[in-house]
Amino acid sequence: MPDFRYQDGELHCEAVPLRAIADKVGTPCYVYSHATLLRQFRSFDSAFNEIPHLVAYAIKANSNLALLRLLAREGAGADIVSGGELYRALQAGIEPRRIVFAGVGKSDDEIRYALKTDILMFNVESSAELRAIDRVAGAMKMKARVALRINPDIDPKTHPYISTGLKKSKFGISAERALEEFKLATTLPHLEIVGVHKHIGSQLTQVSPFVDALKKILLLVEQLAGIGVRIRHLNVGGGLGIIYQDETPPQPQDLAQAIAPLVKDLKCMLIFEPGRSIVGNAGVLVTKVLYHKANPDKTFLIVDAAMNDLIRPALYGAYHEITPVREARDKLKKRVLADVVGPVCESGDFLAKDRMMPLSDPGELLAVMSAGAYGFSMASNYNSRPRVAEVLVRGGEFHVIRAREEYADLVRGETIPAFLN
Ligand code: LLP
Repeated sequence: MPDFRYQDGELHCEAVPLRAIADKVGTPCYVYSHATLLRQFRSFDSAFNEIPHLVAYAIKANSNLALLRLLAREGAGADIVSGGELYRALQAGIEPRRIVFAGVGKSDDEIRYALKTDILMFNVESSAELRAIDRVAGAMKMKARVALRINPDIDPKTHPYISTGLKKSKFGISAERALEEFKLATTLPHLEIVGVHKHIGSQLTQVSPFVDALKKILLLVEQLAGIGVRIRHLNVGGGLGIIYQDETPPQPQDLAQAIAPLVKDLKCMLIFEPGRSIVGNAGVLVTKVLYHKANPDKTFLIVDAAMNDLIRPALYGAYHEITPVREARDKLKKRVLADVVGPVCESGDFLAKDRMMPLSDPGELLAVMSAGAYGFSMASNYNSRPRVAEVLVRGGEFHVIRAREEYADLVRGETIPAFLN
């Protein structure tokens, strides 16, 4: 993570010591690098310069308004999966005609909201949804632009919870049923078919599943041309992996090299939906050591961040490197095999398991690395823990882009009915 480096024995984000941020805003807090975000977005976007394309950032990875605005200013579109994400995208200034809407369970309200704002298209996941969008668009006297999400049944070779393109997955329409569903779509008067969509999974570390899936989709595009359906947008989804530990994920240029020859004669705009590869390595979670605890079989480093702040280790057994913010003192420290755990009352509440860690003293700071994607966006208030602050660093300055929640925020919207008074 080039923008998170030790300088004078202290871990910095760009030119700001993480300690200075922790002193000002407290811990735990997420810290993001403006430079990394820009670089990641630009390197993705420019890799596909030769192909007409749109980079629709997957908002679910990190939906903070400041980050969205930064990406909007770079010309990013958005991949959304809810009315709430649409609201955020619009608030951040992302152009509606650069927004695509996926997800297996869109409600009538969400469909109406998206039609009213004139988004680029819906990525439709079933025939029931085709009919629902047609019905809602009809009632609004509109035509809805749709792409059908096809499940190409390709193994993305990633964690089962983040694999979406296999037959047994709830996502998309099976390749065998695709033509039939497209035919149905042509009969529905309030739909305009504009595209095909696929997304096979997340944290992919090889190019081949992307290529195999795309080949399947291209066959379908040919078949569709045969029945008079011309595809203008080909959405290849997101999923490019990042380095958490020792992975060697392809770079956007590798992906571009692999797919450009396949699509060069296609008169089509390509849409990409990267999330993790844009923000994953742009953020860390800073946490403070509270206690050490040595049980007969195990040493625990108890920190103030927990699974409600970063659920990836608990949910997927995901690996996040954890490094002390103060480097110099660390060198003097003995290392122990420890679990790094939070205060939440669950045995699954850990940030690292059986990890060789310097035995940082209580009060010292640790940085949980590669936490920019699916970190804050998956945070909850479990155990009535206020959600943490988010900070954006740009060069030598830092800005709080989301205030730490207060206790009053925890009960906002709750009411005690009069009969309990
Ligand atoms: N497009 C669609 C339709 C998606 O479902 C996803 C992610 C993306 C794009 C973005 O994928 P990315 O480029 O970020 O890999 N919470 C999990 C990841 C869930 C991904 C869900 N879909 C995690 O923390 O690893």
